[in-house]
Amino acid sequence: MIAGMEPIYRDPSRPTGERVGDLLGRMTVAQQCAQIVQLVGTVPAWEAPALVRRCGSVINALGPTADHLQRLALAEPLGIPLLIGIDAIHGHGLWPGATVFPSQLGLACTWDEELVQAIARATAVETAVTGAHWTFSPVLCRPRDLRWGRVGETFGEDQLLIERLGVAMVRGLQGDDLRRHDAIAACLKHYITYAETVGGRDASECELSERQIRARLLRPFAAAVRAGAASVMTAYHAIDGVPACSNRRWLHDILRDELGFDGLVVTDYDCTGYLMHGQRLAGDLATAVRMALSGGSNLLMGTDCAATIEAGVAAGVIDRGLVAQACARVLGLKFRLGLFEDPRLSAPERITAVMGSEDHRRLARMAAVRALTLVRNRDRTLPLVPSRLRQIALIGPGADDPVATNGDWSLGAFANQNTGFRAEHPRIATVTIRDGLERRLAADGVRLTVCTGCGDAPPQPGFWNPPSRRPDQGLDHPASFRIAAAVRAAQEADVVVLVLGDPTEWWGEFHSTATLELPPVQRQLFDAVRATGTPLIAVLLASKPLAVPWLIAGADATIIAFNPGMETGAALAAVLCGDEEPGGRLAISFPRHVGQLPVAYDAPAIAHHDRYVDDPGLRYDDPLLAFGEGLGYTTFGLRGPRRIANNLAVTVINLGERPGSTVVQVYARAPLAPASRPPRWLVAWQRVSLPPGASDEVRITIPDDRLTVCAADGSWVHPERIELLVGTSSRERDLTVIPWTLEDRAPARP
Ligand code: NOJ
Repeated sequence: MIAGMEPIYRDPSRPTGERVGDLLGRMTVAQQCAQIVQLVGTVPAWEAPALVRRCGSVINALGPTADHLQRLALAEPLGIPLLIGIDAIHGHGLWPGATVFPSQLGLACTWDEELVQAIARATAVETAVTGAHWTFSPVLCRPRDLRWGRVGETFGEDQLLIERLGVAMVRGLQGDDLRRHDAIAACLKHYITYAETVGGRDASECELSERQIRARLLRPFAAAVRAGAASVMTAYHAIDGVPACSNRRWLHDILRDELGFDGLVVTDYDCTGYLMHGQRLAGDLATAVRMALSGGSNLLMGTDCAATIEAGVAAGVIDRGLVAQACARVLGLKFRLGLFEDPRLSAPERITAVMGSEDHRRLARMAAVRALTLVRNRDRTLPLVPSRLRQIALIGPGADDPVATNGDWSLGAFANQNTGFRAEHPRIATVTIRDGLERRLAADGVRLTVCTGCGDAPPQPGFWNPPSRRPDQGLDHPASFRIAAAVRAAQEADVVVLVLGDPTEWWGEFHSTATLELPPVQRQLFDAVRATGTPLIAVLLASKPLAVPWLIAGADATIIAFNPGMETGAALAAVLCGDEEPGGRLAISFPRHVGQLPVAYDAPAIAHHDRYVDDPGLRYDDPLLAFGEGLGYTTFGLRGPRRIANNLAVTVINLGERPGSTVVQVYARAPLAPASRPPRWLVAWQRVSLPPGASDEVRITIPDDRLTVCAADGSWVHPERIELLVGTSSRERDLTVIPWTLEDRAPARP
């Protein structure tokens, strides 16, 4: 370097490609090998200097820990900043006191792209001030077998909903310009068939053909790539015999060449190691690294392998060019984020200003209200009229449980994820259902008696489970004792709010369930409380759909909450008392029985017979709760759907006495087409809000490229005949059929 002259890579006015090339040329092989490794950053201080020489990126280090590592990295020759990643999934949930929003599945029930984008923006703002530049979000997986433990991390079962909300999330996280201080890089995961588990078993091999993958799963990734997503994460499983992290067909031919992705591909945690000790396809680590890099992965998460890579290059096992290519991708993202100009150390004064701020909490509350999905409301049990009530009994294990309230990927739920974070959110940050109801009912002088009624089965100590998590649930008392107390509370009350759900030890990665039942003790509690005859409102604070026909049949009103985040209690109290209308429409179907899977509304239809012979009441296509289902506090009529150019015009009428909103859903089906296809699929939707008695004609644009089926060669083609179905849920009986002709028969893009 000529004295006084800045190297090209330091010059922000130069194009990124030039800066990357210049920097690569200055790096040693060892530095390049380290750059393509990502390690956990929470190490003792004395290990930190060595750590930053073995990686180019860290995860799970935030605030002062991240700053310390960053300063050490910057002090190294060339001063290459660390790329700092974190799982900020529905809020920056691993930072104490950050705003936790509804889980992705809850967010999906809002069907609201603008809201999801705003939530992602707030998440980015809170994450960026803690020194992180990158979140492993959004999840674009599409769950099939609901026994999988990660269903709650997804946007539900519909490809279009996943696509639209995924794009909104990318836009919110990354903002207009990745170099802005409050923008963080998004990561589309888990590319591409991770959720296509066999038997619901986490990370089992996917058995779909390439056409089926294209038909079911590719479009959300394609759209999010077009929206500018900066990175993609691979997954643990294999696709037709080839691990996702070393799958050249999917990572190179399709992701890069076909979809045009030019960002960074990161493996999931220790996927490289998994090639050896899990999938047993590589006999040693150097071979595993070669497989991952040549397959198309660029950054190797969680495998401490810089020295192995260097030795592999020296021995000719790993191609030096592959390392340089991967390194260029890592550096590319660092330049795009502007980290060479500003490595974005954490900002304590900004942390105080933005973390869990009033604005973000308001957003979280609004999101929870819009996510809560009322699926049954017999004889208008809801909304309650507090001025006419004397006493409410709040019963059940979820009544006052901050962990179940916030859901996965937030502090306290560490039993489920291997993050190493052992802290908890300050208790005061989470408005549990108890907190929310106490505050809301105090104004009307209504008494609230609280009784958890039963604890879940004590967690088994062992695999990431702490020995005992919720002492406040009275696990020391026998269930019968606590159920008797709940019955007394129910007898004395005017109404019961019973909060049930899958135990938090049953959620998340590695945690598949054999059934979709609630623990038997929760059923006992339900039956005992039901038998008192006191009006019963059931709330399912659950990570995923459960097979609970008895609950839906027995409760007077049922709200599906999933895990609505820190403002759950305030939102639920407002909804129960009628201050707000519940806004959710289910983004996923609920089966009547685990044996009814797959139960998604677009599951294959043509089969011999239509029900199970050992349970003739169990029709294949009759879920307990259907995709798109959800009630407000008023009723709507839809009249005269008709075509105007490429729009569908529908008159929506509020038939009730309260203002409210409904989600008009448009599905397509193809009576004749050249390839098998789902019985119907979502093509558009629109939320309509109206005052009582009012009506409005809404126009919904029907995009021609959605009126397509995936042909045998994987391309999207227009069918010979198409019909639209309009209504307020995916159930046939809720839909009106309209014939449709296509204007343009050109093939559609993925
Ligand atoms: C494993 C999970 O599968 C993935 O979703 C997550 O982002 C990484 N670990 C990092 O925590």
